[in-house]
Amino acid sequence: MRSLIDITDLTRDEIDEMMAVAADIINRPEEYSDKCKGKKIATLFFEPSTRTRLSFEAAMYELGGNVLSVASESLSSVAKGESVSDTVRVISSYADIIAMRSAKEGAAFVAADSARVPVINAGDGGHCHPTQTLADLFTIYREKGTFDGLTVGFCGDLKYGRTVHSLIAALSRYKNVKITLISPAELKLPDYVKTGVIKKAGMVYTETDDFEKSLPELDIIYMTRIQRERFEDRAEYERLKDSYILTAEKMRSAKKDACVLHPLPRVNEISVKVDADPRACYFKQVENGKYMRMALILKLLEESKDPVKEDLLKGQEIVVGKTGCGNPRCISQTERELEKLFKAVDEGSKVYRCVYCEKRAETPQVFRHYEIKPKK
Ligand code: CP
Repeated sequence: MRSLIDITDLTRDEIDEMMAVAADIINRPEEYSDKCKGKKIATLFFEPSTRTRLSFEAAMYELGGNVLSVASESLSSVAKGESVSDTVRVISSYADIIAMRSAKEGAAFVAADSARVPVINAGDGGHCHPTQTLADLFTIYREKGTFDGLTVGFCGDLKYGRTVHSLIAALSRYKNVKITLISPAELKLPDYVKTGVIKKAGMVYTETDDFEKSLPELDIIYMTRIQRERFEDRAEYERLKDSYILTAEKMRSAKKDACVLHPLPRVNEISVKVDADPRACYFKQVENGKYMRMALILKLLEESKDPVKEDLLKGQEIVVGKTGCGNPRCISQTERELEKLFKAVDEGSKVYRCVYCEKRAETPQVFRHYEIKPKK
C-alpha cells in the first residue's frame, strides 16, 4: 500500500501509464463506471477548495464509489484540537482512501504515516500539490504531445505556489525542459526547489521579474495567484498582489502555439478577455484533473490490496533533532510529539531538510544533540 505525498513518489513511467488510463476513461467512461463499487473516499479539506475536493468527489462517483466529506476544518474535531494523526487513524475505519488538504506543511506526510489506508496529498500549505501536477502534466501532454524541449515559464507567487513546486519536480525528469522563473524578489522560488530540484537535475533556468520580456520565449505560460492567505504582512500582499496580469494585449507577443495554464482560482492575474483565446487552457486543465484523479484513485486502491505500508523514509539518511525545523507552518510545530526528523539532501551531505516540510534546517540547536537513525 502506498500514498501520494509528493509528485516524485510516482515514477515517470507510472505517470505515463496514468495518462493512458485517463485518456481511456475519456474515450470509454462506461468501462470505468463501477470500478470502485463499494469503495469510499474521504475528502478531508482543512483549507478552502473548489476544484480539488469536488473533482476527487466527482472522480469517485464516476467510478461507482461513494464519498465522505469534511469540507472545512471548523466542521471537524480538528477545530477542538484533534491531531492530523488521530484524525486519519479514525477515518481509516470509515474510508478506503483519503484525500487531504491542510495549511500545515508536511501534514500529508504525517497523515500517510498514521493512516491504515492510502492518503493523497491534496495540498499541504505552501509545500506541494501533486494531484494538481497530474492535471498540469496531462494538459501539457494533450496540448503539446511532449514535455521534452519545452520552455516553461512560471509567473507570480513562486514562493508559496505549491503547484509550481510540484510541477517543476515533475518536469525535472524530462529532457531539455527549460524553466523561466518570473516573480517579484519577495516571492522567489524557495531554495529547496531551486537547489534541490532544478540545479540537482541540471535544468537550464533563468530568474527574472520581467514578465513581458520573457513572454515571447515561452511554450507554457503558467500563471499563479499571489496567495493572500500565506502572507503574514497584509501590507506586503497589497503591494505585490497585482505584480503580473496577463491581458489579451500581452498575449499578442506570446507564441502562436503557446499554452496558458493556471491552477485556479484566479483573482485578476489573467484578464477574462484571455479566456476566448484558443491558447487559454486553464479550464481544460480543470477537466483533465478529474480524469487524472480517477486514474490515481484506481491505482492506489489496486495497490492497497497489499496491506504492507511503504516506509516513507526508506533508503534515506535521517537524523533526529532535539528541536523542530523552525518553519512556523510546518506540521511539526503543532503535532508536538512528532519526532523532529531531518533528511540529508544527498548521500553523505551535511545539509539537512525537515522530513515533513522540506525546509532547510537552519537552526544550529537542531544539530547540537542529534542521533543518526540506522538506514533502512
Ligand atoms: N487548483 C486548486 O487547488 O483549486 P482549489 O483550491 O479550488 O482546490
